[in-house]
Amino acid sequence: MRMYDLIMKKRNGEELTTEEINFFVEGYTKGEIPDYQVSALMMAIYFQKMNKRETADLTMAMVKSGEVVDLSGIEGIKVDKHSTGGVGDTTTLILGPIVAAAGVPVAKMSGRGLGHTGGTIDKLESFKGFSVDMPIEKFIENVNDIKIAIGGQTANLAPADKKLYALRDVTATVDNISLIASSIMSKKIASGADAIVLDVKTGSGAFMKNEESSFELAKEMVDIGTNVGRKTVAIITDMDQPLGYAVGNILEVKEAIETLKGNGPSDLTELCLTLGSYMLLLSEKVTDLDEARRILKDIIRSGKGIEKLKELVEAQGGDPAFVDNPSLFEKASIIEPIIASKEGYIKGIKADDIGRAALVLGAGRETKESEIDLSVGVVLHKKIGDYVKKGEAIATIHANDDEKKKVATKMILEAYEIVNEKVERKPLIKGIVT
Ligand code: URA
Ligand code: CA
Repeated sequence: MRMYDLIMKKRNGEELTTEEINFFVEGYTKGEIPDYQVSALMMAIYFQKMNKRETADLTMAMVKSGEVVDLSGIEGIKVDKHSTGGVGDTTTLILGPIVAAAGVPVAKMSGRGLGHTGGTIDKLESFKGFSVDMPIEKFIENVNDIKIAIGGQTANLAPADKKLYALRDVTATVDNISLIASSIMSKKIASGADAIVLDVKTGSGAFMKNEESSFELAKEMVDIGTNVGRKTVAIITDMDQPLGYAVGNILEVKEAIETLKGNGPSDLTELCLTLGSYMLLLSEKVTDLDEARRILKDIIRSGKGIEKLKELVEAQGGDPAFVDNPSLFEKASIIEPIIASKEGYIKGIKADDIGRAALVLGAGRETKESEIDLSVGVVLHKKIGDYVKKGEAIATIHANDDEKKKVATKMILEAYEIVNEKVERKPLIKGIVT
């Protein structure tokens, strides 16, 4: 087989066979096929697209390029959840504990990642002593004991995807639905999930800016999952404004704690109940969504959710006292209100600009080597549809550097669109793809 022929075939709009897809994925992972040929193929795929069968084959070829985590030592159906990424998204810290408290095993491999804020692991590490470093045996034991463990992604999970994603990133071939869907699904499948609940974000703060392409991506991922024998459901959710009020690491952890105590923002609470209900359904814990929702609400109301977070923190070496007493968390040195420059109704909050402001403050990583500042970020006080009076605070900024505070404050003010007419609130859940 020659790479040249594969490029030509795809360039001419033909279908690649399973063997051909395996050939280029294996060859590229081993370093036997050069970047320039694979980038030409990616560009051909970008223009000519792939069908469902090719997309499923590419996914499985990337899964097989590395380790597949064996979670067979865990009793029950393992359901994983994945979010395509947004601003202020703290769902794992809430969903994990409530789903585990319902008796469903949560074996979560999370990342740190690049982004506006740190990933789930960075956030959990704000509990002093918390660690995700443990052998797989211990990870499995914890899930069997307390139904939840959060581990770091091993280096060798879908290595073909790592190489391909990095190549696509510099060759303008990221935004092809088949390539995105297979990239995300390969990592989920390699981390050992039996079933997958996807939270596909749509809007200014999301990868997919419009609903049509978000639904298309959702459908593609659900088809891949189904094709390879994993029950998969996708929920399309709004990311036209940040989720909840807090954006930052410790700030989001505190918001998650409040949500687990039943005092969380309504959008964040609703999203967790929706995603969690599907997780319970796919795990076959319940037979209908209403029953799932009742169980999860009761877990929050009774305090079993917050107790589960404490168990998780303690099991992985962290100090659970922080859960009862969030004032123990480190605080930023500058905490100041951001005052609205005019009055009116909030029409929009550019989520990606709020995210960039958090990044400027130091909440996220610009490069893999960046150190993140866990204490900084922003807490919004006004969301779409709210009214703000002149001189009223629309947000509170948490910073450790005066210059950065000034830049971020300006960005946050500019992210808000304020109008005179009353503004309708938009639904959080845009649709479900099964
Ligand atoms: N996230 C991924 O993991 N892969 C993509 O291709 C795009 C977003
Ligand atoms: Ca939030």
